[in-house]
Amino acid sequence: MAAPAPQPAPRRWNRDDWLRGYTSLTEEHDEWLSAISGELPPELRGTLYRNGPGLLERGGQPVQHPFDGDGMVCAFDFTGDGRVRFRNRYVRTAGFVAEEKAGRFLQRGVFGTQKPGGWLANAFDLRPKNIANTNLAYSPGKLLALWEGGKPYALDPQTLETIGEDDLAGALAGNANFAAHPRYDRRTGRMVNFGIQPGLSSTITLYELGADFTVLSQHRWETPGFAFIHDFALTDDYAIFFQNPVTVNPFPYWFGFRGAAECLIFQSDRPTRVLVLPRNGGRMRVYETDACFVFHHVNAHLTGDRLTVDAIAYETFPALKPGTTYRNVEIETIAASQLFRFTVNLTTGETHRERLMERAVEFPSLHPARVGLPYRWAFMAMADAPTGNAPLQGVLAYDVQTGAAQTYSFAPKGYVGEPVFVPKPGATEENSGYLLQMVFDAERGASDVAVFDAQQVARGPVARVHLPVTVPYGLHGIFVPATTP
Ligand code: CO
Repeated sequence: MAAPAPQPAPRRWNRDDWLRGYTSLTEEHDEWLSAISGELPPELRGTLYRNGPGLLERGGQPVQHPFDGDGMVCAFDFTGDGRVRFRNRYVRTAGFVAEEKAGRFLQRGVFGTQKPGGWLANAFDLRPKNIANTNLAYSPGKLLALWEGGKPYALDPQTLETIGEDDLAGALAGNANFAAHPRYDRRTGRMVNFGIQPGLSSTITLYELGADFTVLSQHRWETPGFAFIHDFALTDDYAIFFQNPVTVNPFPYWFGFRGAAECLIFQSDRPTRVLVLPRNGGRMRVYETDACFVFHHVNAHLTGDRLTVDAIAYETFPALKPGTTYRNVEIETIAASQLFRFTVNLTTGETHRERLMERAVEFPSLHPARVGLPYRWAFMAMADAPTGNAPLQGVLAYDVQTGAAQTYSFAPKGYVGEPVFVPKPGATEENSGYLLQMVFDAERGASDVAVFDAQQVARGPVARVHLPVTVPYGLHGIFVPATTP
C-alpha cells in the first residue's frame, strides 16, 4: 500500500489580517511608551532606527506596490530604564513635499504607481519619485535615508528633521545613485556602498566612506546588460554582486502603462552572473550560476581561491502579474525566498549552489564582526509554514555550520519585518545579542517592537513594546548603541 502523500502544513495566516498591517500612518508621534510585556534588558541601550513606506495612498489613490510608499523613519530610544521613546517622521523629499501640497501623486513610482490621468499623463515621464524609504546609515550628527534609485536624504538623528538631499560633498554629483545596502568593514569601520546606473550596459560604482560619510574612494565598472541589483556582499578584498538574469521591456514604461519594475523580464534560460570586484579598483571577474533572483545577501568569505556567498534567492523574479496588486496577489503562487549557499572557485571558475533550507525567509542579518569572515549565525524573518510561500510571521536563527535552526512564530495573528541583530556589550560569542523585530499584531490592530535573546529565539521575545499605532511593514533599519557619539 502506498504511503499517504504528505499533507501541507495548515495555513496559519489570513489575508485581511496581513493587509491591515499595510495601513498608512499619517500622523507624526513623539511619545514615551510604557505599555511593555515582559522585561526590557537594562543593558539594551541605544536607538533603533527603521525606514519603510509610511504612506500607501494619496488623494484616495492607493500605491500599486508598497515599495512605492513615501519613506517614514521611526526611532525607538531604549534608555535602559524600562521605557522606550517612540518618534516617527516622514522624510521631506521634494516629491513628498510637493504631493502633500497637491493632495495627489505628481510623480510615478518605480513599482507601478502612476500619476492620476491614465497613460497620457504618465507617458514619457521617466523621473520616478525619490522616496528615501529603504534603509538608513548613521554618522554623528547625520542620518542618511537611503533609496537605491537616487541620492540619499540627510536627516537630523535627534529630531528626524529632513536636512535635504545629500550628494556626499559632490561625490554623487550629476545623476549618480546611491544604493540602500551599505556594508561595514569590520576592521576599519568604513562604510562600503554602491550605485547602479542601469541601461543596455550598466555601471556599478563602489564607494568607501569614512565615519563622517566622507567618500574616501570610488571605483567604477561596466557590466553588459541591464543590472537590477539591490544588495551586495563584502569581503576584505572584494565586493560581490549577483547580476540577476533580467532584461527590461521599456516600452510600457515609456508609454505610461506600467512602472519600471513591472517591465522586468526574468530570463530563466540565462545564468545569474556573479561579479567579483576588487575593492582597490582592479579588473572585474565574472562567474556564472543557474538562473535565480537575489535581493539580499547574508555574508561572504574567501578561503584560498574558494569564495562562499550565502544569499536569499528566488527561483524566479517575484513579479506581480498584470492587473494584480500586492492586495489581491495569490502569495502562494509567487516564488518563495530561500537560503542558498553559493561557492565559486575563483581559479577554475567552477560554481556550485546548494539550498540550505526549504522554509521561506527574508531580511537576513548577522554579527557585524563576522562580515567577510566564516561565520555561524544567520538571523532572518521567516514564514510560519516550513514549506511554500506565505507572509513573514516569525524569526529564525540559523546555524550555518550545523544546519540547525531555532524558530519563533507569531502566527496566526502576528506579521513581521526584518530582525536587527544587536551584539551584547562585551560579549564574545557570535550569537550573544538581541534581535529587534517589528511585529504587526492583528489581534490588537497595532504594531509592537519585539526583543529576543538571540541565543534563546525559540523561547519567544523577552519583551514586547506595544505601540499605540500601526507602523506599515517596513524595509530596513539599524541600531545605534547609546555609547556612540
Ligand atoms: Co533590502
